[in-house]
Amino acid sequence: MGQVGSKPDSLIERVSFGIDPLDWGAPEGVLRSSTILFAGESGTGKSALVAHIAANFMHRGERCLYVALDDSPESFVEQLESFGWRGRELYQRGLLYIVDGYTYTTGRYVSSSFANRSVNVQRVDELTNAIIASVEELKMSGSGVLVIDSLNDLLYFHDITRVVMFIKSIRAFVSKSRKILSLVVLHTDTESTAELAKSVEHLFDGVIYTRINEDLRKLGIPLKELLVKKLRGCPTNPFWIPYAITANGVMPVDTEKLANLIKAKLKEYERLK
Ligand SMILES: Nc1ncnc2c1ncn2[C@@H]1O[C@H](COP(=O)(O)OP(=O)(O)OP(=O)(O)O)[C@@H](O)[C@H]1O
Ligand SMILES: [Mg+2]
Repeated sequence: MGQVGSKPDSLIERVSFGIDPLDWGAPEGVLRSSTILFAGESGTGKSALVAHIAANFMHRGERCLYVALDDSPESFVEQLESFGWRGRELYQRGLLYIVDGYTYTTGRYVSSSFANRSVNVQRVDELTNAIIASVEELKMSGSGVLVIDSLNDLLYFHDITRVVMFIKSIRAFVSKSRKILSLVVLHTDTESTAELAKSVEHLFDGVIYTRINEDLRKLGIPLKELLVKKLRGCPTNPFWIPYAITANGVMPVDTEKLANLIKAKLKEYERLK
């Protein structure tokens, strides 16, 4: 993965995600100055996708500023480790910098051993300021990735207007002015959050949806798929692309194995007739 192309004015430097199924959807990468939404139902792989992208950045020496909202900072480090990446070491080396917006909401005022900053997300300005202050402290500019997992926690505490202002601030102060790729996760488990995802698409430079294939789900095959719906300034292949989450991260689906699995399931189904 890495830089896949840039023009002399550096305004349009592109980076690839470095993950095959995603790169098939975004064949020329994404603009560094993008804010990208990852939306989909629970368990469809959003966190794994953003973790894999973040790991690719860190493995080539770029920082990841991770904002833990859904789950503890430890969980993100453990997730990296579960894919065989050295999360603890990346944290200790300062390549991984974590803003903990999770612990405070649990009411346990204990500081996490993997948190560089803690914030109370009940005050959205505090969160925005903590992210901008972290970017400044780390002197991140023209490199690195910001991950926010997820927006849903903000929606529990704030009305949509404040959440929209938060997204706009991140896009303006982190992605645009600092040229830091920003990845924002949104769970769409309810009709209202699915509608919300559609209604905020225009606020993002890129939109990527994840899902479980409905037809195969009926056969008992939980095939994950992703769709790169839009990317500002870059071409896309906007088709649902199958992918798998393995012990080594996000991978393409082995089509032969999938075909055999479908054949076996259909045979089983025939026997029931
Ligand atoms: N280390 C791993 N090895 C194999 N599979 C894994 C690993 N980590 C996660 N997975 C798979 O990824 C799936 C969940 O993906 P993920 O947590 O990224 O979904 P999500 O869309 O973020 O869900 P949620 O909205 O609940 O946060 C798990 O159900 C599991 O099958
Ligand atoms: Mg998740």
